[in-house]
Amino acid sequence: MEHLRVISGSANRSLAEEIAKTLKIKLTPIEFKRFSDGELYVRILESVRGADVFVIQPTSPDANLNLMELLITIDAIKRSSPKRITALMPYYGYARQDRKNKPREPITAKLVAKLLEAAGVNRVITIDLHVAQVQGFFDIHSDNLDLIPICVEHILRRKLDHLVFVAPDVGGAPRARFVAKVLHAPIAIIDKRRSEGSGKVIVENIIGEIKGKTCIMVDDMIDTAGTITEAASLLKRKGAKEVYVYATHAVLSGSAIDKLKKSQIKEIVLTNTIEIPKSKRIKKIKIISVAPLLSEIIKRSHDGTPMGVFYENMYKRLGKIMKKC
Ligand code: R5P
Repeated sequence: MEHLRVISGSANRSLAEEIAKTLKIKLTPIEFKRFSDGELYVRILESVRGADVFVIQPTSPDANLNLMELLITIDAIKRSSPKRITALMPYYGYARQDRKNKPREPITAKLVAKLLEAAGVNRVITIDLHVAQVQGFFDIHSDNLDLIPICVEHILRRKLDHLVFVAPDVGGAPRARFVAKVLHAPIAIIDKRRSEGSGKVIVENIIGEIKGKTCIMVDDMIDTAGTITEAASLLKRKGAKEVYVYATHAVLSGSAIDKLKKSQIKEIVLTNTIEIPKSKRIKKIKIISVAPLLSEIIKRSHDGTPMGVFYENMYKRLGKIMKKC
């Protein structure tokens, strides 16, 4: 670990501290300043010469500010002769802008990848990208970690019966199918669209059998919570017994918390890829920490030990738990 340095941006300091504690190292000190015109200033306060540097920064709200801070931090490190820089982005903002839906639209997910490369990153680690294809936007090495084994273990421990995994929209079907496959459970898919002007979520049809079943919706993120709360109401209207939600990224913008409180969802399991402030930690929300996973990934990436083996072991462990259930 001698040449390992972990630096935290300001977007999710508590996750970085948890990771450093697990790795039994200290976070490399860093100074952030904001000038009165809004410009950012960053300085690394210890040498990173010859070091393998990991910068932890989700580009969560305020996405633009956090992204800019990450780029400036990378530039500061790059100018200090490190051996390698890895941007560890637990949440990769702008991933939903991954294609042109209308003429003259940008593909911002690709632009962000280009900005990171231009700033001097050698490698990027993300978690549960909105769509896995975003990985292809990088010409440098990138890893997208999936949290499926962690979710499945959590679900197994609940000992729920008559499960059906529900994708809240067609795009989420591969994610739901993957979890369902591990647990040998059926899936259902909700036919979701957004109204042209307001972007309001409209859900009308469900493909699959959900009547009398315990529905577990899986999604990459909860942003305004429109998708999952509307989907949960539809599931209940169509006879679902209970609705649980597993989502990775707690964007929770606008009136999300209010909607979740009033929703038909029994419990929402989120992770700390994005820091969830105390004011948003309502009773229905349970949080799983990704720090143990990220610490192991940092360790393996630093030593050059394969990550695939780590995932294989996780699935083997799951197999054993499943046999006991
Ligand atoms: C959509 O394709 C995503 O997977 C999420 O379902 C969506 O972005 C969640 O957004 P919101 O919570 O604002 O409906």
